[in-house]
Amino acid sequence: MSNAKLELNGQTYEFPVVVGTEGEVGIDVAKLRVSSKAIALDPGYGNTGSCKSAITFINGEEGVLHYRGYPIGQLAEKLSFEEVAYMLVWGELPSQSELDDFKAKLDEHAALPASVLALIKTFPEQAHPMAMAQAAVAALEPASHHVAPADDADAHIISIIAKFKSLAAAIYRHQKNEPAVASETDLSYAGDFLQLMYGRDGGNYEIDEAIEEAINALLILHADHEQNCSASTVRMVGSSQASIYASISAGIGALWGPLHGGANQRVLEMLQAIHEDGADYQKYVDMSKDKESGFRLMGFGHRVYKNHDPRATILKKSTDRVLAKLDKKDPLLDIAKKLEQVALSDDFFIKRKLFPNVDFYSGIIYRALGIPTNMFTVMFALGRLPGWIAQWKELRDDPKARIYRPRQIYTGETKRDVTTIAER
Ligand code: ACO
Repeated sequence: MSNAKLELNGQTYEFPVVVGTEGEVGIDVAKLRVSSKAIALDPGYGNTGSCKSAITFINGEEGVLHYRGYPIGQLAEKLSFEEVAYMLVWGELPSQSELDDFKAKLDEHAALPASVLALIKTFPEQAHPMAMAQAAVAALEPASHHVAPADDADAHIISIIAKFKSLAAAIYRHQKNEPAVASETDLSYAGDFLQLMYGRDGGNYEIDEAIEEAINALLILHADHEQNCSASTVRMVGSSQASIYASISAGIGALWGPLHGGANQRVLEMLQAIHEDGADYQKYVDMSKDKESGFRLMGFGHRVYKNHDPRATILKKSTDRVLAKLDKKDPLLDIAKKLEQVALSDDFFIKRKLFPNVDFYSGIIYRALGIPTNMFTVMFALGRLPGWIAQWKELRDDPKARIYRPRQIYTGETKRDVTTIAER
């Protein structure tokens, strides 16, 4: 492909074109400022590629999502979260012996240090679980480990994946003023997470296979999503060579917001509010179309997907299965289905390509499983962890990686002299 040309102030500048393996085209403007003195201005980064990456491919126009080439539907249907996590972080699906070794290490490192359990307990029980998760991950950093590790990155990666399920469950139990229980070996990641959440010390918690499968699929569906807000935050922080703990902790903060992972909590709160308001969903659809109202239908729309969110399509089916299995009739699900129908047939939503995203259905499943609403975003973080780690590792392993440092167009006052208080 020929170079891209830019004309500015009568001069022509040429920039190389980069083509990805799926045919995505980028204009490499790395030399733009050096050659032309201008910068590329792209608030919200909607047109800006911050890196080349071999982890996740999304075609938003066609609703395609692949992790390392594997379609998301196949991954969620056929594999365990452990296999997907391994493949995201280290590039290939594990052999049986690699998987056995990985699982054994996850078991070995699952226990939280007493200091981290004590830290969680310092939070008020009503504190938001994402605040606890952010602090607890930062506190996992060993005292001797202040910068990005060189040789022992894999050990830290395994430790953080192993401990995050214990950490999420310990936070959940702290909210209920219950002590944490120990991780059990010979369980899947999803199964151990369930017993860490709902089990009693000394055992005999019975894991329902259908629920374990649903959690496994949910974790896989959330495991990566290329350069979104939290992954970019992880990379941004990691680019300063801050440790994996500092980087993941920052990613949790980014995920927390309602325009990102926090939307799953907001979806449920919205459905609850509509339910309490007499289930008048049309009123809320209308309100979301009125810009003055400042209200948006949570769980609708996506920056990248402009056809459908493939994760939402899979989750919709899974939601029906889980609710049937648990024999749960949920009035909020009825409202969700009606909202979906109305929104999908409304011109406002069709024109703007707004349809349910992954957060729209995940909340309904979490609710059916008895997970409290304010834990939903922690569930998202649990799934997203391997993706963040893969993004962090890819950046760290890139010898050409530079610190992330965007520029700006300054629009403030031009130079002026300071006055003393008496002169003002
Ligand atoms: N309800 C009503 N209108 C909406 C919604 C919504 N949920 N989302 C977007 N719009 C409208 C906007 O008002 C805008 O209309 P306009 O063109 O007339 O001004 C248009 O659609 C485009 O919206 P933007 O905000 O420009 O889209 P952007 O790509 O910046 O935002 C986002 C994407 C943040 C996901 C947005 O759709 C949103 O706020 N959705 C609700 C929150 C949510 O569900 N977030 C989860 C995202 S998925 C995830 O993180 C896992």
